[in-house]
Amino acid sequence: MSPRLVLIGPMGVGKSTVGGLLAQRLGVAYRDTDDDIVAAEGRTVAEIFVEDGEPAFRALEKRAVQEALTTHDGVLALGGGAILDAGTRALLAGQRVIYLSMDVEEAVRRTGLGAARPLLAVNPRKQWRELMEARRHLYEEAATAVVPTDGRTPEEVTDAVLDALELKEA
Ligand code: S3P
Repeated sequence: MSPRLVLIGPMGVGKSTVGGLLAQRLGVAYRDTDDDIVAAEGRTVAEIFVEDGEPAFRALEKRAVQEALTTHDGVLALGGGAILDAGTRALLAGQRVIYLSMDVEEAVRRTGLGAARPLLAVNPRKQWRELMEARRHLYEEAATAVVPTDGRTPEEVTDAVLDALELKEA
């Protein structure tokens, strides 16, 4: 068993919203590895970051991705930093992976001060720039298709993902 498609991309890009819409359109279930981790740990993502540190979270995340890739056949969304782990990236090989992208200005607009997101607590614009510089190539490397979300509604992004999939499969 493997997912119909896997969504990657930075936090706030709309993976959950678009993932839910895609699942509806495809008539399949939606799953999110952040939710799986929270359910398994009984703690929020922020609590795990603060209490155990980011490396411990990435290890839990790799396990959650591995589990979801073999037990879920719908739409799967990964946390924004999942692609930082080489083991997690290796798990994505051979999967249909859609990178939802956005530029830094769009990111700052959408996530605002990002209080609930530990990686964006101070100076969001600078942190976004650094975060995307560190991650952009990893998202692109892991992706089989890139769908820009700038200035698009979730419905428009959903259509663009479906178009990208049809092109890939044609
Ligand atoms: C993170 C993104 C979050 C969550 C954690 C770390 C990141 O997921 O996994 O806060 O490193 O970009 P979302 O992309 O679902 O917000």
